[in-house]
Amino acid sequence: MAATALLSQAARRLEGKVAVVTGGACGIGESTARLFSKHGAKVIIADIRSDLGKSVCKDLGPETASFVHCDVSCESDVENAIAAAVDRHGKLDIMVNNAAIGDPPKLNILDIDKADFDKVISVNLTGVFLGAKHAARAMIPLRRGTIINVGSVSSSVGGVASHAYASSKHAVVGLTRNVAAELGPYGIRVNCLSPYFIRTPLSEEMFKIDENPGFRAYSNLEGVTLREEDVAEAALFLGSDESKYISGHNLAVDGGFTTINPAFGLFARA
Ligand SMILES: NC(=O)c1ccc[n+]([C@@H]2O[C@H](COP(=O)([O-])OP(=O)(O)OC[C@H]3O[C@@H](n4cnc5c(N)ncnc54)[C@H](O)[C@@H]3O)[C@@H](O)[C@H]2O)c1
Repeated sequence: MAATALLSQAARRLEGKVAVVTGGACGIGESTARLFSKHGAKVIIADIRSDLGKSVCKDLGPETASFVHCDVSCESDVENAIAAAVDRHGKLDIMVNNAAIGDPPKLNILDIDKADFDKVISVNLTGVFLGAKHAARAMIPLRRGTIINVGSVSSSVGGVASHAYASSKHAVVGLTRNVAAELGPYGIRVNCLSPYFIRTPLSEEMFKIDENPGFRAYSNLEGVTLREEDVAEAALFLGSDESKYISGHNLAVDGGFTTINPAFGLFARA
């Protein structure tokens, strides 16, 4: 019996759907793959971490989940991951372009190497473009599908992460809107999902959290901490028919971080 118990048939919101999740071997992608499978989807995890990805798939069960080694910055790898979904399950309904990386934390633009900047763009932006391109190839003939690109609070505000990361994540929103414009006439929805800080390997490395024990992420929203599972719930919504008229949207899962500027202090706590 697979580790993730299925919900009752009526409660399964992705029954019969097929999803590819890039970067699904850990963090937000893993949570998304697990939740999608709990809701009845067949899931392909496309990642460079074979060890972790295969272990998640084993846990979910071979009928439900399979792993494909895929570097999202390599077009043939992405093409192969989509082909694996279509070969195994006959179609692709949901593409989650989630894989991303950070770059060495350097606070001075003069110290940043072009190669490091290019690397982030190649995974975080070109990877999303390739995922959307090859998902579209599979979805257009069926005239349906949903593409979810994972952005960040760095998709809409500056001063939170490196130049490369912020550039890539802002661009993901632009790409989302453009691809939504093109694919809407085929019945394909394209949205962005932009979380706030969650402690994962990516953010630990990016903010050097181990070297900074006092690290605490600012939040406007008291009494709740964002977790991978919360982002997965938002991906479930965007992947399911419950969001059937939502396209070209950037859904922030950030407790208001990107829309509230506390600097003015109007509601400063006493
Ligand atoms: N954790 C946060 O605070 C946070 C905040 C906002 C947005 N995000 C975004 O959420 C998404 C997931 O991040 P996470 O925090 O879960 O990170 P993570 O490090 O936990 O997981 C990232 C996954 O992507 C995979 N990956 C890295 N490079 C890849 C490549 N070239 N090809 C395929 N797979 C690759 C990794 O192996 C890993 O499994 C990213 O798009 C990230 O930018 C994260």
